[in-house]
Amino acid sequence: MTWWREGVLYQIYPRSFADSNGDGIGDLRGIAARLDYLEWLGVDGIWLNPIHPSPNVDWGYDVADYMGVHPDLGTLDDLDALVAEAARRGIRLLLDLVPNHTSDRNPWFRERPDFYVWSKEIPNNWRAAFGGGPAWTWDEERRAYYLHNFAPQQPDLDWWNEDVRDEFDRILRFWFDRGVAGFRIDVAHALIKDRELRDDVLDPEARGGVHRIHSMNRPETHEIFGRWRRLADRNEPSRILVGEVYVLEVAEWARYYGSGTDELNLAFNFALVHSDLDAAKMREIVAATEAALPSEAWPCWTGSNHDAMRFTTRWCGGDEALARCALLILLTLRGTPFLYYGDELALPNGRVPKERLLDVAAPPRDPGRTPMPWTPGDGGWSDPWLPLEEASRNVADQRDDPRSTLHFTRELIALRRSSEDLRLGAYVGLAAPEGVWAWRRGERTAVAVNLAAAPRRSRASRAGSCSARGASGRARSCRARSGSSRRRATSWPCSGRRRSGRAARETPRASRSCRASAARFSSASVRSRSLSGPAPGRRSAAPARSRRSTPTCCRRGPGRGRSAGRRRRSGRSRASRPSSATRSRGRLRGPSCRGALGSGARARRGSS
Ligand code: GLC
Ligand code: CA
Repeated sequence: MTWWREGVLYQIYPRSFADSNGDGIGDLRGIAARLDYLEWLGVDGIWLNPIHPSPNVDWGYDVADYMGVHPDLGTLDDLDALVAEAARRGIRLLLDLVPNHTSDRNPWFRERPDFYVWSKEIPNNWRAAFGGGPAWTWDEERRAYYLHNFAPQQPDLDWWNEDVRDEFDRILRFWFDRGVAGFRIDVAHALIKDRELRDDVLDPEARGGVHRIHSMNRPETHEIFGRWRRLADRNEPSRILVGEVYVLEVAEWARYYGSGTDELNLAFNFALVHSDLDAAKMREIVAATEAALPSEAWPCWTGSNHDAMRFTTRWCGGDEALARCALLILLTLRGTPFLYYGDELALPNGRVPKERLLDVAAPPRDPGRTPMPWTPGDGGWSDPWLPLEEASRNVADQRDDPRSTLHFTRELIALRRSSEDLRLGAYVGLAAPEGVWAWRRGERTAVAVNLAAAPRRSRASRAGSCSARGASGRARSCRARSGSSRRRATSWPCSGRRRSGRAARETPRASRSCRASAARFSSASVRSRSLSGPAPGRRSAAPARSRRSTPTCCRRGPGRGRSAGRRRRSGRSRASRPSSATRSRGRLRGPSCRGALGSGARARRGSS
């Protein structure tokens, strides 16, 4: 078992996760105090955004000392304690490595100017990501311009300099020796710049109007990751490198995995992050990703982070049931999922009034960085550094409610852990009606998510299934109208997944929800028999609605509306009765959102 392939990782923005001393700033001891929660949730590793001393122009991404801990967050001892305590619970810890640039307060900037990139005049058309001006700022002391791809206070390092490389080898070793399991690598695609500092290529068709082929995406960058991978692999157990490879062309992005075993272990897939929550678009990105990766490489999926902010807002417009669909996708695709703190609550972006914005970027990213709501009311924070104006989706309430998104996420993680198909099985796209995305994992597990604005129906097959879905509060509109809708769903024995041994004992909830959901989920566009027939989507005559209704969650979710009421009244006994599946009509009932995960299906045919 490789933990980082099979596990679920969880990103923590330390200032906003948990505050141990009441100063309004989250800290390392606060994280340690919440390890119980993370263990209960079932995550295998955590990634901390930068924890180092920093003037915080870019909130830690301007590092003043790579081997220290920011006093706001704690001490090196606190970090050691956190690593040890997490390890005791089987949770690994990744740090954030920021090798592209430092803070201008890093002593290197004055003491080792050769570590940076200088020019007597502005040499090219490169633009800074923050501020929008040229990527070059005049330094009076050196009487030259220095390069900064981000803010002027973030001078870029010169990775052509061997001493810079040696310095970072030292930094990597320092943290590996302290038991850190690996690094998320900031701006991984941009470390090396064109040696001759040539212009980027302007192209109105390109994203941002420019092909950044000289200021970033240089082929020479791969040498650095090869070198780090060798260094990481020399440790026992080997450490991992997770790249923030902000390259949207999937084939180009995949190159950061090298041969599959000799560069990055994982690279965030920003093509998916930037996609709409749309079955056809996402399916295409995943298919392209699967096709582009070398056979030994392993995908990595995320929906939210401290830059892109929260998927519950971006993909789902705040809708909790849609957020469950997104969680289902992230946790059941082939690859390692990274959840961002609060994703498990379907947390939307926070509201940050103008006068409290602190971010250097435009538009500001603060709404995706607001404090974790642990409780209703003040969220468990006193006067936090960023405001927490709304805590209606919070840990305490959701932990008490077995139908909550938090429990849903936990059950999905447990299900994933108990299923070799979900952890390791191959991904094969399956034919599905328009708006539905369906895929198979391994030999026996299938997943379907209806992201359409209308219900979908397809043929069912026999198989136990597990569903994780949102359904519509407007059940009245849940009528399938596809060409295939006359067909009744084939019934299937509702057995849930058979599990045995340790996994079964560890995940009682998963098996329960599995059975309950199997009885309810009736669409089964992904199950075995329908797979061998013509693609239901091709027969579909149903125009998708242009507007999503507001779905509520039907599987023990925060039900609203008529269907939810019916579900509540009928209770679990109905849900877990196999016969209800037999009676069902093969419909993806929610107008917008339904994810279902069928297992035990011997899916024989698919398409990507
Ligand atoms: C990365 C970080 C982002 C930061 C930028 C510059 O993209 O994720 O937060 O602002 O690098 O360091
Ligand atoms: Ca604190």
